[in-house]
Amino acid sequence: MGALAVPRYISDMASECCRVDYDEQFNTDEARRDLLQYRASGPDPSTRRLVHALIAQGVEGATLLDIGGGVGVVQLELLEAGAASSVDVDASAAYLEVAEAEANERGWPDRTRYLHGDFTVLADEVEPADVVTLDRVICCYPDARALIGRSAGKARRLYGLVHPVDRWWTRLFGAFGNLGYRIFRNPYRIHIHRQDLIDTLVRAEGLEPVSARSSWFWRTAVYRRQAA
Ligand SMILES: C[S@@+](CC[C@H](N)C(=O)[O-])C[C@H]1O[C@@H](n2cnc3c(N)ncnc32)[C@H](O)[C@@H]1O
Repeated sequence: MGALAVPRYISDMASECCRVDYDEQFNTDEARRDLLQYRASGPDPSTRRLVHALIAQGVEGATLLDIGGGVGVVQLELLEAGAASSVDVDASAAYLEVAEAEANERGWPDRTRYLHGDFTVLADEVEPADVVTLDRVICCYPDARALIGRSAGKARRLYGLVHPVDRWWTRLFGAFGNLGYRIFRNPYRIHIHRQDLIDTLVRAEGLEPVSARSSWFWRTAVYRRQAA
């Protein structure tokens, strides 16, 4: 893994309030479960929608920056679809290890790179890419402005997001989940960021929506950079 030296408690820098250990939250057991599920059933429906929407816009020969890529589903699917290479920046070392092993097994060792840490902290060291994706990542992170602003700025052509719909039931789900985390003294929190804020932050980086689809829980949106 092309790991950079970053502090283990990444949120010390990102947010004074939350000392989340993403290595612990997204650990090896979780990563192995996710990989088995992907091998057995393919991408989850919201991820599948993201992959299809990006392929519809054209990914042949594209470079990919996948932030919080988990076990690497978006990377593997887009490489299969003709993308040239991928960089995965993830705050969880366990997910990165599983993603790298799976990519190697599928024959992509030369076209994949892995960086460990908080993207908002590493952003200056990360090259722009044709396609940038955050699949179910911004709901794990408190600072939407930093994460979306910095990642959207890296997208040369396409920017893909999967995030919870901004509705009362997802906020209720988040509130109950966070109550559970509080009870068990786990500093991790679910964040249901406002959709108008997400959209404003992405547009502020020069990207316009080209497709959006929602299920009862997840919204999948693809944005495209406008010609200068
Ligand atoms: C819920 S998992 C989603 C994984 C995968 N994208 C999927 O949809 O299956 C969230 C992932 O985002 C990562 N993550 C959250 N905030 C991050 C940040 N600021 N920088 C890098 N990775 C982050 C976590 O470590 C975790 O791997």
